[in-house]
Order: sequence, then C-alpha cells, then structure tokens
Amino acid sequence: MMSSPFDRRELLKRSLLATGFAPLCCITPEAPSHSFACEENRIFLDRGLLSQPGSAVAIVVASRNLNLIVIHWKRGRFAALDRSCTHGGAQCAYNNRRMTVQCTSLNHAEFGLDGALLHGRTHGNLKTYAVQALGRQLVVSLEART
Ligand code: FES
Repeated sequence: MMSSPFDRRELLKRSLLATGFAPLCCITPEAPSHSFACEENRIFLDRGLLSQPGSAVAIVVASRNLNLIVIHWKRGRFAALDRSCTHGGAQCAYNNRRMTVQCTSLNHAEFGLDGALLHGRTHGNLKTYAVQALGRQLVVSLEART
C-alpha cells in the first residue's frame, strides 16, 4: 500500500503519462517573453533564468517558428536543442536526472544533449545550437550545428 506523498506523486505522474498527458514536472517551462531578445541569427537570453545547473527553459517565438530548449546541464555548460520531436512534433522536455531530452508523447523518444536519438521511433536527431555565456546573457546561435 502506498503511504508517502512521494509514492502518490509518482503514481499520479505515471497515470498521467499512461493516458498521454505530460504532468507538469515533465514540462520544460517557457521563458517569459521579456527574458530574451531575438536577432536574425541569435537569441540573447537572461542567464539568470538558468542560474542553477539542471535548469532548463523553452524559448518559443511562433512568428519566427522558433521552439528551442536551452539547458544548463553542468556548471557553466549549456546546450540548446530543437524542442519539437522528430517523430510527430510533440514537445520535448529536459530530464535532469537522465541528462536527456525526452518527448512527452506516448512513444517517449529520448535524445542526448548532442541531439542524437537514444531510443524511439523518430525521423532523426534533434538539431542543436551553440550556446555561449556572455556576462549576464546566454547567446544562442540559430545556425544549427546538426
Ligand atoms: S512525437 Fe515524439 S515520439 Fe512520437
């Protein structure tokens, strides 16, 4: 019998995943629009949003068809990847425990921080982008590396 709050939370999470709904803990939050600025080939993001290693934010600019995850995966080390799964376009989220990006759809494709598909039936790797720390900002180059 489950008795601790953790067990109930885990059960709820698994139930939501089984029904195809991603629980809030599996969603990478969107960066507020005032926290980043876009140039033609770069995004300047407030570094304070990702001050803690293990944190991640999504940057979404519908008018430019931008939808990325930016991750502070290790102290001073950052990664940026496309957020839309290459299988069916569901949104991916950062899993800090596994240090991977996981699709929130039922098929659960999983990608490394280099964008490489680790498992899942998809149509390829996620594109990745260079991220450079510059003072209080992170600069994401929008020229895809892969
Ligand atoms: S949309 Fe991601 S695995 Fe299907």
